[in-house]
This record gives sequence, structure tokens and C-alpha cells, in this order.
Amino acid sequence: MNRSIIYAAATSLVLAFSAAGATDVDALMNHCNDCHGPGGVSDSSDIPSLAGFPEFVHVDALFIFQDEARPCAETEYRHGDTSRAPTTMPATSASPALSSALSAVPVDR
Ligand code: HEC
Repeated sequence: MNRSIIYAAATSLVLAFSAAGATDVDALMNHCNDCHGPGGVSDSSDIPSLAGFPEFVHVDALFIFQDEARPCAETEYRHGDTSRAPTTMPATSASPALSSALSAVPVDR
């Protein structure tokens, strides 16, 4: 993949999910950014930014959330439709869209 595309990506997860063949990467990332902030830059002190970290750090964290080995308090959406029910990262990681994207990421587990 060409470097300008890599640097233009809002977060490395976009690349991971694209490589994994996720069908609607934009919708997936918009969902994430409704908590993690526009472009993955958080404006909430209790939610970490996603932008600027390497892909493997995020993918690793997502597998750990999926295995329910790292806790996450239920939290509210901060952007977009904020009337959606609060949720957790383990629940988010188990969603069909993210599960199928993660299961296609080529890593040893
Ligand atoms: C409802 C809000 C919400 C949504 C939606 C959400 N997250 Fe999170 N996310 C959080 C919170 C809160 C944490 C911090 C959990 C903790 O450590 O207590 C977190 C943590 C993370 C972390 C760990 C980051 C770090 O620095 O440790 C990653 C990676 C992550 N989320 C990715 C995603 C992805 C990818 C999506 C979309 C598929 C997503 N999140 C959707 C609230 C959300």
C-alpha cells in the first residue's frame, strides 16, 4: 500500500479492517468514533484516542476485550445519535461487523 494512503488514514484500524475485507469500514469506524471522537481523537477524558497508535496495539486490545479479559465500564455515545443505549468495549468487540473484521485479521492468537 502506498505511503500517502497510510498517512492519510485517520486511524490504523481503517487499514486493518480494510485489509481484513470488512465490507463497510467507514460505517464501522464512524460507529467507533462516536465514542472515540472524530477522526479517532477523543474529546472525553474517560475514552482513549484511537488515532496515532499502531494497528497491532488496537487489534490486540480488541481481542482482549472480545475475550472479556479487560474490563470496560458501560459508557454513553458522545457523538452522532447519543440516544443509543450505553455499551461496553467487550459488547462492541462481539458485534457481528467487528467480529467478522477481527476474525479476518492475520494474527496468531
Ligand atoms: C459506547 C462507546 C464506545 C464505542 C462505540 C467504542 N468504544 Fe472503544 N472504548 C470505549 C471506552 C470507554 C474505552 C476505554 C476502556 C477502558 O480501558 O476502561 C475504549 C477502549 C478502546 C480501545 C483500547 C484503547 C487503549 O488505548 O487502550 C480500543 C482499541 C477501542 N476502544 C477500539 C474501538 C473500536 C475499534 C470501536 C468500534 C468498532 C470502538 N472502540 C467503539 C468506548 C467505546
